[in-house]
Amino acid sequence: MYVLWILLIPFFLSIVLLYFYFRLYYGWGSLFTEECIQPPRPLVTDKKSRDKVLKQGFSQDKIPPNLDALVIGSGVGGLAAAAALAKAGKRVLVLEQHDQAGGSCHTFQEHGYEFDVGLHYVGQMHEGGMFRVIMDQLTDGQLQWNRLGDQYDSVIIGHKVYRLYAGKQEFPDSLKNQFPGEEEAIDKFVTLMKKVARHVPLLAMLKMIPHYLALFLLKSGLLHRLSPVFRLAESSHQDVVGRLTSNKELQTMFSYLFYGVPPNDSSFMINALLLHHYKRGAWYPRGGSSEIAFHMIPVIERAGGMVLVRAPVKRILLNNGRATGVAVQKKDKEICIYAPVVISDAGIFNTYEHLLPPEVRNTPEVDSLLSSLQYGMGCFLVFVGICGASDELGLKSTNLWIYSESDLNSLMEKFQSLEWEEVCEQLPLMFITFPSAKDPTYSQRHPGHSCMTLLTMAPYDWFHQWSGQKPRQRGDEYQGMKMQLAEHMVERAIKEFPQLQGKIEYMEAATPVSNEYYLRAPKGSMYGAEQNCSRYQCEIIGRMRSQTVVPGLYLTGQDVFSSGVAGAVHGGLLCASAVLNKILYIDLLMLKKRLKRRIRQRRS
Ligand SMILES: Cc1cc2nc3c(=O)[nH]c(=O)nc-3n(C[C@H](O)[C@H](O)[C@H](O)COP(=O)(O)OP(=O)(O)OC[C@H]3O[C@@H](n4cnc5c(N)ncnc54)[C@H](O)[C@@H]3O)c2cc1C
Ligand SMILES: *[C@@H]1O[C@H](CO)[C@@H](O)[C@H](O)[C@H]1NC(C)=O
Ligand SMILES: *[C@@H]1O[C@H](CO)[C@@H](O)[C@H](O)[C@H]1NC(C)=O
Repeated sequence: MYVLWILLIPFFLSIVLLYFYFRLYYGWGSLFTEECIQPPRPLVTDKKSRDKVLKQGFSQDKIPPNLDALVIGSGVGGLAAAAALAKAGKRVLVLEQHDQAGGSCHTFQEHGYEFDVGLHYVGQMHEGGMFRVIMDQLTDGQLQWNRLGDQYDSVIIGHKVYRLYAGKQEFPDSLKNQFPGEEEAIDKFVTLMKKVARHVPLLAMLKMIPHYLALFLLKSGLLHRLSPVFRLAESSHQDVVGRLTSNKELQTMFSYLFYGVPPNDSSFMINALLLHHYKRGAWYPRGGSSEIAFHMIPVIERAGGMVLVRAPVKRILLNNGRATGVAVQKKDKEICIYAPVVISDAGIFNTYEHLLPPEVRNTPEVDSLLSSLQYGMGCFLVFVGICGASDELGLKSTNLWIYSESDLNSLMEKFQSLEWEEVCEQLPLMFITFPSAKDPTYSQRHPGHSCMTLLTMAPYDWFHQWSGQKPRQRGDEYQGMKMQLAEHMVERAIKEFPQLQGKIEYMEAATPVSNEYYLRAPKGSMYGAEQNCSRYQCEIIGRMRSQTVVPGLYLTGQDVFSSGVAGAVHGGLLCASAVLNKILYIDLLMLKKRLKRRIRQRRS
């Protein structure tokens, strides 16, 4: 033990020294302040005013001069990095290939309904919480969050229904009530979950310290002595949970938020973090998920930056091996834009496989990293427009997760090999949510309307033959297949919500090929690089960082840290930290402390 401490002292000392060095070098000022938080202005619902922010088309004359950084992609990861840099006074241009900003967090309107693509709910938005502090800073306090009911999720396993309740105490207590005799397993799980959540900043640290230092810590075995979180990240969920309980249904509850990887191949840390994320409750943006981009863009603009859409980046420009800019494809012309820093929110696969020349992709370093990762699984979404307001129909904010059986390992294995007809009839896993019931402004914005989104995972193979074809030009076979599955899913949903019978006015479905087209998601992946166990081996965690093998090129978004809106935002902060050479989390922690003190004073 003493030897360990002796070895660790120089390590901590060097961190402290580095910190002071950077502080002296880059100034003591914090990017984050209480003062930027303005009282929220009224919700903007006028389409024209919204489009002015979210849909500013790209043209050469709009490119701001003297750019400090370019960002490829306007997902929440790209916008978060750009907004953080803007807070440091940097002039950033964000280039988005789609016709609107937001990436997975964009919304679309059809037949008087609004649907969101990839945000159903986020956690840890309670007042004074770190994620709340971060989102408030990046939107100057303009983004408002609506809390879902305390019973935020229900899980159906076979014929049984289990419910999750928000609250530090309510969360474990309600599970214990539903699983009598399993109190010890639940307590142990919650203890591990808390441990993971408390120590997860160490994983971020592994991505921020110089890579050789990370390697030294790993190879010397010091890393695993520093915290159990590294072991829990590397362990399969099944191994850890199997030691706590043999109750299959309880095991399922510990990993009920599906993302395409079975428990025996997923990281315990990720599943524990997901459950922890929602433990204090679930939130949804007031005004819908496009509000995120709508309020981050003005922060970027205030520093002289811009977010331009219909700007597909064809490639990253290199000079002597250094990233110097990007080329945007405009009709049959390439427009080159230069900046000392290039940031990619397009994901690790797109960046290395499509935006950089093959010489870079084929270096041993990149090759070995990419071969430890795989494309994430795609998803199948059904967007349903319902006649009638949510409260009239008795629709609730609770989300529903449905599994046909409790053994998720064999379920996921079978799922991949099912014939098309079997997939439609058996629907092994499905998620149901009512965005209109989660946002009180929905009924003001779309009176007399409600919406429902249904989701299941979908291997790319199901639809890959239509890859590369444009929407609505993929032919009858594609349309037929997609609507067949959509109808089975809607039928299943009506079983749970019989009041919807006869009320459905509109229905559209999206496949992995849609995701590939609209979001450039490689192989239609839903959450970026697959979150299987190999992605969370410490060596890979240390290598999947914002810095790339190309000087001047950085990654942001969900492939830097983890998937999800919170994951992508942390990717953005890690990216801005790397670009500015400043650990932004230190400023955020200090701000959080000050805010907590204020909240306490206000309450007493
Ligand atoms: C159906 C679904 C449901 C989800 N539900 C939730 C949820 O409930 N809670 C949660 O926390 N998370 C959820 N997520 C995940 C979450 O939305 C994502 O993890 C997060 O938004 C990813 O952000 P990002 O910035 O990393 O990537 P993206 O949002 O994918 O953004 C990447 C952007 O880059 C652009 N781009 C790519 N290539 C180029 C190029 N060459 N030139 C220009 N632009 C380019 C794309 O068009 C895209 O806009 C969901 C995702 C999906 C798909
Ligand atoms: C997880 O992904 C890696 C990288 O592709 C792969 O080698 C590994 O086999 C995957 N695990 C499983 C069981 O699919
Ligand atoms: C996970 O479980 C399934 C079904 O039991 C099995 O076929 C598969 O090989 C297992 N995968 C791993 C990585 O252990």
